[in-house]
Amino acid sequence: MGAPLEIADLKKMAKRRVPKLFFDYADSGSYTESTYRANESDFAKVKLRQRVLVDMTNRSLATTMIGQDVSMPVALAPTGLTGMQFADGEMLAAKAAEEFGIPFTLSTMSICSIEDVASVTTKPFWFQLYVMRDRDFVLNLIERAKAAKCSALVLTADLQILGQRHKDIRNGLSAPPKLTPRHLMQMAMCPRWCWHMLQTERRTFRNIHGHVKNVTDLSSLNVWTNEQFDPQLSWKDVEWIKERWGGKLIIKGILDAEDAVLAAQSGADAIVVSNHGGRQLDGALSTISMLPRIVDAVGDRIEVHLDGGIRSGQDVLKAVALGAKGTFIGRPFLYGLGAMGKPGVTKALEIIRREMDVTMALCGKREIGQIDGSIIAENPFAA
Ligand code: FNR
Repeated sequence: MGAPLEIADLKKMAKRRVPKLFFDYADSGSYTESTYRANESDFAKVKLRQRVLVDMTNRSLATTMIGQDVSMPVALAPTGLTGMQFADGEMLAAKAAEEFGIPFTLSTMSICSIEDVASVTTKPFWFQLYVMRDRDFVLNLIERAKAAKCSALVLTADLQILGQRHKDIRNGLSAPPKLTPRHLMQMAMCPRWCWHMLQTERRTFRNIHGHVKNVTDLSSLNVWTNEQFDPQLSWKDVEWIKERWGGKLIIKGILDAEDAVLAAQSGADAIVVSNHGGRQLDGALSTISMLPRIVDAVGDRIEVHLDGGIRSGQDVLKAVALGAKGTFIGRPFLYGLGAMGKPGVTKALEIIRREMDVTMALCGKREIGQIDGSIIAENPFAA
């Protein structure tokens, strides 16, 4: 295979280089995966307007997300177990994002800890919070994110209870992997992955391990984690977190205009229109199809971001045209990471940047500030 030209090429490479149980963990949605597929395929239904003979020189993709400068309107989404796609994956992805001038978001369920990522970065990153039942642990995470100078807290609201991903159950997913004959076979087929993984000691959930009473070994860690997602979480908790955190707050996982209004009332700085990459409510609408209605409801009161299904620069531009101030990508950077480590994340970002730049020019625009509904030729999801 030649040099990767599109995100799909990185996906093919990652499929060969990452043990099956971890590749499948990234490339899956809940239940029938219908929402996972719709996130991607609905982007193709939005059509762009071709404009010609417009001066296309001096283009720029730079803009801001929650008031912070970004070189393009794309952030790396929080993803669990990223350090299992490639050894020290969160540290590598954070460095790639920093060099590119875009935000990196560290998941609560990461392999590398907040402190690990802070030790290799020089600019602030964002931290994603799962509100666990153990509120002392939540406070511990918030304090650690503050100490690491994280510049935004991304509160994930759509995972109070876990949607089932069949592949993970069939594969017996865990971190680190249990050394069953099947897993050993899968790993043996990925010698480069194994070699890098043997060079690091970071192979379990380091934000949790060592920070929770009575969690001393892997089996107690697994039991604790499974019990901790909180079905009682409500808007009152958002207030509590906002007070404790005191900085920029982004609520992630909004897919409904009524919830977007509540989020705007909560005093958060931004929302991410998201269905968790099709990993939670199977049968929910795609994010790009919901974006116009949500922007219509709250776009003048709160900054709106979007994730889910973005696989190209064209997709980013469509989201911006329909009212997103910024976007997040999950799988595209995970595939880059699994394919080649840090250079693979950079490659994924370069691919998206180049596609976005050319697409913007062919729509007759030179900067992100000019991107609005005027570049859309057809939108079946208009509010
Ligand atoms: C996720 N996502 C996620 N979200 C979150 O808030 N905390 C997390 O720990 C995770 N973990 C996670 C793991 C993996 C493997 C994936 C693919 C996704 C959801 C993520 O932040 C984002 O919403 C989606 O990935 C966006 O969709 P795309 O870009 O992957 O299509």
